[in-house]
Amino acid sequence: MIKTIECSQEGIVRILDQSRLPLEEVYIECRDHLEVAEAIRKMRIRGAPAIGVAAAIALALGAQKIQADSFEGFYSKLQDLAETLAGTRPTAVNLFWALGCMKRCALDFKDLPLQALKERLREEAQRILEEDINTNRALGREGKGLIHDGASILTHCNTGALATAGYGTALGVVRAAFEEGKRLTVYVDETRPYLQGARLTAWELQKEGIPFVLITDNMAGYFMKQGKIDMVMVGADRIAANGDVANKIGTYGLAVLAREHNIPFYVAAPLSTLDLGLPSGEEIPIEERDPEEVTQFLGTPIAPPGAQAANPAFDITPARLVSAIVTEVGIARPPYKDSLRDLRQRAWHRPKAG
Ligand code: MRU
Repeated sequence: MIKTIECSQEGIVRILDQSRLPLEEVYIECRDHLEVAEAIRKMRIRGAPAIGVAAAIALALGAQKIQADSFEGFYSKLQDLAETLAGTRPTAVNLFWALGCMKRCALDFKDLPLQALKERLREEAQRILEEDINTNRALGREGKGLIHDGASILTHCNTGALATAGYGTALGVVRAAFEEGKRLTVYVDETRPYLQGARLTAWELQKEGIPFVLITDNMAGYFMKQGKIDMVMVGADRIAANGDVANKIGTYGLAVLAREHNIPFYVAAPLSTLDLGLPSGEEIPIEERDPEEVTQFLGTPIAPPGAQAANPAFDITPARLVSAIVTEVGIARPPYKDSLRDLRQRAWHRPKAG
């Protein structure tokens, strides 16, 4: 399986540099939390669950170097590090979820000697990484029944092993159906401007031998109208209590097109992507990235010098356009306010995914 991120006993974090795929398969080495933060900001590692895992590992790494005479002194410095990491990317809630798990771990073990506490934090980050893979596999098991033999699935951005610690969310569901022997074709949106579809999803699917057709974003409606698409399956960066979904820019347009053509629109995401404290998608912060990602491609200008460009990285798909939300503990259907809350409660009463 592709290794998105790993941390050695010596505290070196190896990250597969996704900004260079598919042309080069290169791992970068980060030696402190600031280098990991920079890798997240520059999208060398990206995808909501992977960002969360990277932040947890970075916080554990930073914690090893904290000098303090008391737990209070230690915790205050840990919070400063967490704040730096929280400032890297604002939309994917998994980042804040993972940092929350790490801080809770510190509080749970506050009575331990400092060295032992630091070790616990290292273990917690590793637990978050391993749990992410198990969660994705469970998500695949829950969702694969939505995909029938011979299905054509349109997907957007990258939601595979690269976007997680391994296996993937929406692409994990596709993978699970494929592993079961179902024949399927994935229509891969190239996903401008960062080209996660063309560069990353196509790369992953090719490695796995899963049949796919790469299309530009503006071809989706054409293929839907031709009857070539049976369903849309995407991931999420944050899901509000009413089921509104923040995901890669362009997702909303796909959902509108899917509704027009009577095609089911599915979202697959772990429970760590739920933000039930937010009533609706209106409150989800949308990351604005450098307009150069739009005016340039791999450093080459593709617009006249000085052209104004906008670069919102995500959009909100209203819950009414979402047919179902697949999680690791089951599938939520409208009304999401009830079904998402029920799934969250079910997770509390169930042993961990494995
Ligand atoms: O900007 P990115 O590449 O981090 O955006 C990723 C997405 O939008 C994914 O669809 C989402 O994080 C789900 S990944 C399992």
